[in-house]
Amino acid sequence: MKVYYEAPADVVRYIDVHRNIALEDKIQHFENYLRPIRNFKEITPTTEILEIGTGTGWFPLLCKLRGLRCKGLEISPQLIEVARDTGRRYGAEPDIELGNLEDYRLPEEFYDVVIASSVFEHVEDWRTGIHKVYKTLKKGGVLYFESTNKFSFTSGEYKGIPLYGWLPNSWRYAIRKRAHGEDIMKLGIDFHQFTHSGLRKEFERAGFSRILDRIDVAEEEHVSTGFRRNVVRLAKRFGPIRLLALTFAEATRFICIR
Ligand SMILES: C[S@@+](CC[C@H](N)C(=O)[O-])C[C@H]1O[C@@H](n2cnc3c(N)ncnc32)[C@H](O)[C@@H]1O
Repeated sequence: MKVYYEAPADVVRYIDVHRNIALEDKIQHFENYLRPIRNFKEITPTTEILEIGTGTGWFPLLCKLRGLRCKGLEISPQLIEVARDTGRRYGAEPDIELGNLEDYRLPEEFYDVVIASSVFEHVEDWRTGIHKVYKTLKKGGVLYFESTNKFSFTSGEYKGIPLYGWLPNSWRYAIRKRAHGEDIMKLGIDFHQFTHSGLRKEFERAGFSRILDRIDVAEEEHVSTGFRRNVVRLAKRFGPIRLLALTFAEATRFICIR
């Protein structure tokens, strides 16, 4: 993957939909990231946070407005511009650098927290990405990770086909090229549909000392519906239910501690 200075069509589409985001609408989302992290790491104005794949920049901007230190790494210059525009509306300048996680030189043992939400599915060499995140975290540092889940019944990546994530990579790529044009492969394609078990293996290989999946970190009082609360309760007690819940959940989610 590389940085494209001319916006690929998918970025243009993404910007059309997300250009005028209101940061107020993102506060709940922001808290949903920080709440599980706080169980392992205090977050203060001196905590070094990195977000990989900042999109419209709402996370680094909300950090800035709350006096938290967050750097962003983003592969799309156009999206960095959107983040700056949004920042101007709120009187905050986001600290986002242009680069591709795969070859960007991140400082070693520097960050306390790394956020990677809805980004690793787009990182072609995702294994290198995971190992780079591990190296850039301090000992005891926390990774918040969220991405695709192959056997989810719905997909945030493409809604045109039921069970889209279940398809082999080559089929998905062909479908997306037909639907969105060849340059979806430059940026926007979900190169990967992950599984909890596959990700866990790579987190272990990278060296993370604790790897907690979405059932481990779910707190019943913050689970959105009664049905989900029951699933979490049962999954925490019974192994086979946990396996089913992780297999079919709408996304993979982990907290990993270096
Ligand atoms: C679906 S958006 C998610 C944005 C944000 N994390 C959120 O949850 O709203 C994925 C973002 O990751 C960026 N991205 C994709 N591949 C990347 C890479 N290799 N290095 C850095 N950023 C990348 C994309 O340009 C896009 O802004």
